[in-house]
Amino acid sequence: MATIKEVAQRADVSVGTVSNVITNSIPVSPELRQRVLTAIHDLGYQPSHVARSLKLRRTNTLGLLVSDITNPFFSQLVRGAEEAALEQGYLLVTFNTDDRIEREKQVLDVLRGRRVDGILLVVAPAPLTPSHIAETMGRGTPIVCLDRLPPGISVDAVTVDNVGASRRCVAHLLELGHRRIAILAGSMHLTTARERLLGYKQAFRKAAVPVDPGLIREGNFRMDSGCELTLRLLRQPDRPTALFVSNGLMAIGALKAISAVGLRCPQEIAVATFDDSPLNELLSPSLTSVAQPAYLMGYRGARLLLDRIRSLGPPRPCRIRLRAELKIRQSSGGPVIPAPVRNARTKGPASLVPR
Ligand code: RIB
Repeated sequence: MATIKEVAQRADVSVGTVSNVITNSIPVSPELRQRVLTAIHDLGYQPSHVARSLKLRRTNTLGLLVSDITNPFFSQLVRGAEEAALEQGYLLVTFNTDDRIEREKQVLDVLRGRRVDGILLVVAPAPLTPSHIAETMGRGTPIVCLDRLPPGISVDAVTVDNVGASRRCVAHLLELGHRRIAILAGSMHLTTARERLLGYKQAFRKAAVPVDPGLIREGNFRMDSGCELTLRLLRQPDRPTALFVSNGLMAIGALKAISAVGLRCPQEIAVATFDDSPLNELLSPSLTSVAQPAYLMGYRGARLLLDRIRSLGPPRPCRIRLRAELKIRQSSGGPVIPAPVRNARTKGPASLVPR
């Protein structure tokens, strides 16, 4: 196995110049760079990342914690972070917390032990300020939060304007004539869920329509919770005529419930959701969705983290807030004048009265 000294001799440069070319840390003239790269190729030299890590006290590795990578939102976020890391010669290792705070603590311990250079974190729901996040930052490992903010900690973050996007989506349902619009919210221990609920309430306030607290239901961002909450809502007297769902997985559960009780969407119940995915356009009816820039969130978060690792970027924690786009599709239909409300299967099958 060739050594760095042999490469230096072959290229007729110092060992330091070879190291600068490998680590891309200090600029090297194109002529010297080419001589070094040619020598590395001819000798088949493989830099020792372990040796470099020990010397530079860096591993060129980032850690990323998400709730569940099988959720299309998070898989897109991971792709964006991976792209930004690779562009700068960094490895990205990704973990799933399943929204469990104990798992989040465990993974942060492992990543600290592996000396990752920085961490991208989608926090799990936490009723209190999680000390493990501040401890990790206090020990010198920079953290950038994505999508959600930890309670009580000032930290770099890349999020979406949840309030504004939610407000625009519910305003769309109100403009169609709906008044009994239910919200399936996520866990109130998450800033995304609280901000989307706030946007829902702001839309009602702006339209001078009172909010019925009985139409606000708290779920957990998972499919089953969307299905169970929707079944209960559709079987109550004066059921809602529209659903605003706070994430894509609960929306799938809601559509399953609507089909199970025999109601038609959007004729009898309109649906709009946070989180878009390519499937939302292929569903029948196609799903009105708030499209979050998940890939860009991951990319911008990784770039901000890399700046922090290199002691660049603004002096204080900064928050990058991205805009989400409302995609209006068939599930919220055209203008509707809510027909007399028919409750799901409380009076047996009834003829569907098209609007
Ligand atoms: O589907 C997962 C949800 O959790 C997304 O809406 C994302 O914003 C995260 O908060």
